[in-house]
Amino acid sequence: MYEFDRLLARKGTHCSKWDALEQVYGNPDLVPLWVADMDFPVLPELEKALAARSVNSTFGYTFAGEGYYKSVTDWHLKRNGLSLTKEDILDVPGVVCGLSFVIAALTGPEDKVLINTPVYPPFFSVPKSQGRPLLLSPLRRGKERYEIDFDDFEAKLREGAKAFIFCSPHNPVGRVWEKEELENIVKLCARYGTLIVSDEIHSDLIFSGHKHIPILNVSPEARDISLIVSAPSKTFNVAGLKASMLLVKNPDLRKRIRTLLDQFHVGVGLFGYKAAEVVYREGEKWLEELLVYLEDNAKFVVSFLESRLPRVGAYLPESTYLMWLDFSAYGLTQEALMGKMRKEARVALNDGVTFGKEGKGHVRLNIGTTRALIQEGLEKIEAAFGK
Ligand SMILES: Cc1ncc(COP(=O)(O)O)c(C=O)c1O
Repeated sequence: MYEFDRLLARKGTHCSKWDALEQVYGNPDLVPLWVADMDFPVLPELEKALAARSVNSTFGYTFAGEGYYKSVTDWHLKRNGLSLTKEDILDVPGVVCGLSFVIAALTGPEDKVLINTPVYPPFFSVPKSQGRPLLLSPLRRGKERYEIDFDDFEAKLREGAKAFIFCSPHNPVGRVWEKEELENIVKLCARYGTLIVSDEIHSDLIFSGHKHIPILNVSPEARDISLIVSAPSKTFNVAGLKASMLLVKNPDLRKRIRTLLDQFHVGVGLFGYKAAEVVYREGEKWLEELLVYLEDNAKFVVSFLESRLPRVGAYLPESTYLMWLDFSAYGLTQEALMGKMRKEARVALNDGVTFGKEGKGHVRLNIGTTRALIQEGLEKIEAAFGK
């Protein structure tokens, strides 16, 4: 049994979630339920492996060993039936960095990039920072979950999207996309000549009753027109170690991306390689226990809201430790909503509008922490907002 009910003492470690509160929210004493990492002790085998790598050691130039490639390829095959070879993998330090290189390598200055909103803020900023015009296709709110509005999606593709940056599973709405939805995406993108860049960083964090399907497994056509950006960072809480990867089956796309990565001398450090190798080889049981804890956290939040904050809307997430909460029934401006969270509730949450204009009235809650801390945050919100 691993310990997910013990809060790590993270203050004073330069961790963004706890130590950047003052800088971002102007108050160091908020309950930190914002930036997407977790407060749990890491996989013990990882701690041991990194410590062992530090003793009597050498930290010179390092390359990825066979053990790293074996761990990565075994993991994807076992967890999601995705068969990869070493050649399919391009190493990048971060997922957002990977997205940026893909956009730079595979689109030109006037090429339009499509995204579904609301979505993780860098989906806006990455294309924009490279001068690529954005096409936005808002997700539709269904009865029990968000869905892709395929009429709108196709209309946006028809406007000439060169690339579609896809969030699978989706942050912040917590969807695990189903086979029919994925097939439809691939069919439409193939029809309009649109490349699918699938950010699958959350794909190990899947709750019961759902199954992640990697975009590369949807069909042979999907392998030609898509690629995956992946990492162990969300799953095993190792974002600070900077190890991520692009999974690309199409040799032409891969060559074009590799050329750009080589031009800029992009790579991963030795602790990043070591971490990815160890967590993927030895972390499955830890992950299974984590998923039980996270899913119970999500159920706890939904039942707390139903009984004590019934005006707040929320769906039970299918994936991720992030929840998308709808406070629009309170009729506040976004500024007033966020101000109340900060000054009265004294809880740090992500501002919904940073995920797109559909995020008005919303906040994102991070449940990758102990139930006790979540309860403390929710009780403070209850005290500030009332029934
Ligand atoms: C969908 C998505 N992509 C990428 C990232 C960040 O990845 P990285 O830190 O490796 O750039 C996050 C972090 O929350 C995310 O939710």
